[in-house]
Amino acid sequence: MGLTVGNTQDNFNYKVVRQFALVTVLWGIVGMLVGVILAAQLIWPDITMNIPWLSYGRLRPLHTNAVIFAFGGSALFATSYYIVQRTCQVRLFSDKLAAFTFWGWQAVIVAAAISLPLGMSTSKEYAELEWPIDILITLVWVAYAVVFFGTVIKRKTKHIYVSNWFFGAYILTIAMLHIFNNLEMPASLFKSYSAYSGAQDAMIQWWYGHNAVGFFLTTSFLGMMYYFIPKQAERPIYSYRLSIVHFWALNFTYMWAGPHHLQHTALPDWTQSLGMVFSLILLAPSWGGMINGIMTLSGAWHKLRSDPILKFLITALSFYGMSTFEGSMMSIKTVNSLSHYTDWTIGHVHSGALGWVAMITIGSMYYLIPRLVGQKEMHSTKLIELHFWISTIGVVLYIAAMWIAGVMQGLMWRAFQVDGTLTYSFVESVKATYPFYMIRLLGGVCFLSGMFVMAYNVLKTIQNKKFVDAPIPTSNLAAAH
Ligand code: HEM
Ligand code: HEM
Ligand SMILES: [Fe+2]
Repeated sequence: MGLTVGNTQDNFNYKVVRQFALVTVLWGIVGMLVGVILAAQLIWPDITMNIPWLSYGRLRPLHTNAVIFAFGGSALFATSYYIVQRTCQVRLFSDKLAAFTFWGWQAVIVAAAISLPLGMSTSKEYAELEWPIDILITLVWVAYAVVFFGTVIKRKTKHIYVSNWFFGAYILTIAMLHIFNNLEMPASLFKSYSAYSGAQDAMIQWWYGHNAVGFFLTTSFLGMMYYFIPKQAERPIYSYRLSIVHFWALNFTYMWAGPHHLQHTALPDWTQSLGMVFSLILLAPSWGGMINGIMTLSGAWHKLRSDPILKFLITALSFYGMSTFEGSMMSIKTVNSLSHYTDWTIGHVHSGALGWVAMITIGSMYYLIPRLVGQKEMHSTKLIELHFWISTIGVVLYIAAMWIAGVMQGLMWRAFQVDGTLTYSFVESVKATYPFYMIRLLGGVCFLSGMFVMAYNVLKTIQNKKFVDAPIPTSNLAAAH
């Protein structure tokens, strides 16, 4: 709609970016609302009145799929399509294929939202969707790769900006992970059996699960970080050389750390040790990336005080640093023997998921959305500031509650009397956790409220505005993306 100048080929394709950006906010609200319901169910199990479609076991995968693939995925499509065009100075390789990725991905999301509450599931965490949906995902992903790499190939700039390296790695890796983890034999339209069994199945599943975190929730979002932090701070990235070292070291190391999800299991012991060692090494590139992002602000720290978008982006990196430090520690076998199965893991997950993934997304969307409707900034900066504070308070409440609950559970389960009997029954540890579940729920409600503030601000920003597709600069000087 509403092109400003010239014919289509003189403009960037902002339409598909706009579509993905707007559904990011929508799916964020939906996914987090389901998270809040889950948090409430853990306190009041009957809150969904025993309706089978809303039972905990069905809503939990709905939550994870909605926040990771619908909210996170849409944000990644939006930002990668925007960044690859701006930094390559060309329009997307194919408008039709790009439109197919939008509608195809939305179809996957709707299919997930129907099939998971109906109880259809492969039972593999983060890969629960049944085989027909897996095939649709594969088609969308191939189209995504063609659009993305096609755009990089036809670029007008000599250089391939670092964000594109990160997005490219994520697209390739997710394709490989998705295909191998989902090799399965269909028994009917809605049911299939995995090609793997036993310890091999566990190993493949956590090679996938771990790298889904590593590439879908980390490498890709680092691509976002490397573009939006320099843009918003109006400064070049702190060290371009570090970003290249960061890229290779992170991606290589991530691949080997998967067995930290399977410590003290039937997996061969050496694979568990390998997972632990690689997880400890992983801390170095993770912090290298964090430092590169944060130091981009060096000499311009004052900007943080007045710019809530920058606050979102930099706070996201701080949570990234914290959760990666935590993850490396939790990979150590002795620490894992305490943390595994407890709410500490859930705290770790959300310090990454809310603190890093959601906050870097929110900051990037506040930068992006006004530009997609020809504006310089969002309708209200005050509301962004409000959003920043309630979401920060929300994450802190969430993870602090889960740390305390987790360590408490771990210690209660391992405590025993001189005669060798357990000091506490399991249900006593559940009862002791209730106060922390209340605090987590409060934190979740805060975070979700922030998303509603965002939705209002976004609606006000796009209301009565023309959708504008920016022209592609013709001279190379103007190409300072
Ligand atoms: C250096 C980086 C990281 C390392 C070494 C690491 C390590 C770990 C370890 C040891 C566990 C616990 C496994 C268990 O006991 O079950 C875990 C769980 C998890 N981590 Fe991390 N982590 C890192 C970064 C992150 C980040 C940045 C995120 C989110 C964006 C994240 C998301 C998760 C998730 C979702 C799980 C739970 C998986 C499940 O059991 O369902 N991790 N991680
Ligand atoms: C309002 C915000 C949110 C709330 C209240 C919330 C709540 C929850 C709850 C209650 C669980 C189940 C924990 C359990 O089984 O003990 C959960 C699991 C999970 N959530 Fe969230 N969540 C929120 C946002 C997010 C976001 C934005 C992401 C990702 C970007 C995310 C990723 C996950 C993952 C990966 C798990 C599974 C963890 C595991 O298996 O170890 N959540 N969430
Ligand atoms: Fe992992």
